[in-house]
Amino acid sequence: MKFKISEQVASIKPYEPGKPLKEVEREYQLTNVVKLASNENPIGFSPKVNDAVSLQMKHMNRYPESSAHILCNKLAQKFHIDRKNIVIGNGSDDIIALLAHAFLNPGDEALMPLPSFLMYEISVKTAKGIPVMVPLNDYSTNLEGLVDKISSKTRLVFITNPFNPTGSTITCDEFNEFLQKVPEDVIIVVDEAYIEFVRKDGVYDSLKNPLQDPRVVSLRTFSKAYGLAGFRVGYGIMDSEIAQILNRIRQPFNVNTLAQAAAVAAIDDEAFLKKSIKITHDGLDFLFDKLASLGLRCLPTQSNFLMLDLETDATKVFEQMLKLGVIVRSMKSYGFDTFLRVSIGTKEENIAFIQALKKVLKKSGNQR
Ligand SMILES: Cc1ncc(COP(=O)(O)O)c(C=O)c1O
Repeated sequence: MKFKISEQVASIKPYEPGKPLKEVEREYQLTNVVKLASNENPIGFSPKVNDAVSLQMKHMNRYPESSAHILCNKLAQKFHIDRKNIVIGNGSDDIIALLAHAFLNPGDEALMPLPSFLMYEISVKTAKGIPVMVPLNDYSTNLEGLVDKISSKTRLVFITNPFNPTGSTITCDEFNEFLQKVPEDVIIVVDEAYIEFVRKDGVYDSLKNPLQDPRVVSLRTFSKAYGLAGFRVGYGIMDSEIAQILNRIRQPFNVNTLAQAAAVAAIDDEAFLKKSIKITHDGLDFLFDKLASLGLRCLPTQSNFLMLDLETDATKVFEQMLKLGVIVRSMKSYGFDTFLRVSIGTKEENIAFIQALKKVLKKSGNQR
């Protein structure tokens, strides 16, 4: 290309979203495709969201409220904090990018596990920072390894709890020990996109006792347990000085009117949230059981997805499953060549996944 692109940007591998359902239906001329690839909520969202969004339709000729006033008040109430500690984003992706842009000068470093949710690396590189990657330890975040990589250039550390893609978690004790070893001027971003699904005791939850340490920035999203992925709304809870900086640089209308209304309505429907979590836990138990009876190993998970070791090239299995109308994720690009990541679906979707997997393994002579 004749235009000179930033070297950091040139080195970015594009984010590969899970294959869209409609695209697979078109490409393979299928109907009733099952998508278990992006850790979405399989039962949709609260019916209260429909009403709230419909009400807002007549105001869509106006710009959204930049301060997301009602949503911020709701969140402040929920977590017993002040509005000045909240930043609302166009998905939590948006806040990840804001943090990178606000706190990295060219050449500054941001630490993260390897592999990680790709948006950390993309945001850091786009902000001209340097991602420093620390390999996982037994499929879990290597907190000691992250501490070892801290240098005078470190500005940010990204932690995901529960971890995507393995589903592992960090305990309160582990996190507190880690915190003591991190310098005072380093921001620790704790991405809790999947925290609602945790059912094990002792897992660190930064919002059980929010704002205890000014270095900790908590990220949450409405895309997973609340089922609002298409609306694009997430939030960060953080020290007010950090929030003020992010609010200064974010786009003034980053979260649209419908998304704000949808999020407010979703917070109010605790029964729907509970139902979604229960369906996920039941689905996890069902799949663990079925996969174990097929002699397949899954990693323990506290999330709404599981990683499954096929002991064979996972990408080939992924492609065969696509043809049968089941979209999952091959973990090859994450360095786990023999693993698939499967999001938990409805009962029917989970059954369809098991049936398709059995067919593919049988066809490839890998009968179970
Ligand atoms: C670990 C993690 N963080 C953040 C996100 C992004 O969520 P959002 O939809 O709020 O941008 C995802 C989405 O898959 C994720 O897996």
